Amino acid sequence: MKLSEFMENRKSAREYRLKNLSNKDLKKVNEILKEVNEKANRYNINYQLFEGENIYKPLRGEGGYSGVMIEAPGYISLSMKEPNDESYIYGAYYLEDIIGKLSEIGYGTCWVSLFSVSDELKKDVFGTKDKIDFILAFGIPVNYILKGDSQYSNRLGLEDFIYINDLDTPVDVETLQNYGLDEIFYYLRNAPSAFNKQPWRFLIKDGKIDLFIKDYQGNVNLTDSGIVMYYYEKLAEIDGINASWDLNVDPCVETDMKFIGRTNF
Ligand SMILES: Cc1cc2nc3c(=O)[nH]c(=O)nc-3n(C[C@H](O)[C@H](O)[C@H](O)COP(=O)(O)O)c2cc1C
Repeated sequence: MKLSEFMENRKSAREYRLKNLSNKDLKKVNEILKEVNEKANRYNINYQLFEGENIYKPLRGEGGYSGVMIEAPGYISLSMKEPNDESYIYGAYYLEDIIGKLSEIGYGTCWVSLFSVSDELKKDVFGTKDKIDFILAFGIPVNYILKGDSQYSNRLGLEDFIYINDLDTPVDVETLQNYGLDEIFYYLRNAPSAFNKQPWRFLIKDGKIDLFIKDYQGNVNLTDSGIVMYYYEKLAEIDGINASWDLNVDPCVETDMKFIGRTNF
């Protein structure tokens, strides 16, 4: 499936066929994780596959938004050896890479937050002292759109999160078209974010794009940033743009928002 099509239709899946994963399924997912782990290891990140009930039962009432744990035939843990800003950002970045690969073999997915789960319980469940704040539930979805789910799925208009020259000037679609950025952002706005907060704000200035986070809440927003950074690069690639984010520069304007990084376009 083309990335644009995937982004147009992507939705978190919260209900799955609860059949155990076969050895063949496990092998396929492990191959994906091996490939992505090789890229992600330099950020001290590791992804590991777990079979459903080993995770769901102990985390029921504990993991997920307000303890609403998502039941799935499989889970992938995102663990960080030495958690820091980069590992939250790139942990999310590469988890989206995994999500795309899982979708190619027919799986739906949903991020599951584990902030409210005690470190002790996480250590027992995942068998590691590494930091695990998020896991990914995956499987064959039975019903993509659940009743009441739309509260999680609304998206901001492009003019609500993209600015031009300064943070007081929302972009208009014509300007985005002139820059050749309209399609990238049209699809990028479907990126998932915790509580669907869509905290990312982009400022186009002097031939570059700065990424900021509104109402910054720490690690969870670094995670949301990693996700949009991933999709920006991948969508730009389709348009022949070799984009990459620089996290070690200063923001191009002064603002109360948290600055994450800058990319070319
Ligand atoms: C970092 C992160 C944590 C999330 N945690 C949860 C969670 O614990 N439970 C849940 O049901 N959805 C969770 N989600 C899914 C988001 O709520 C969902 O992506 C967002 O509401 C947009 O909906 P959509 O993915 O269907 O487009 C999480 C997403 C992200 C990016």
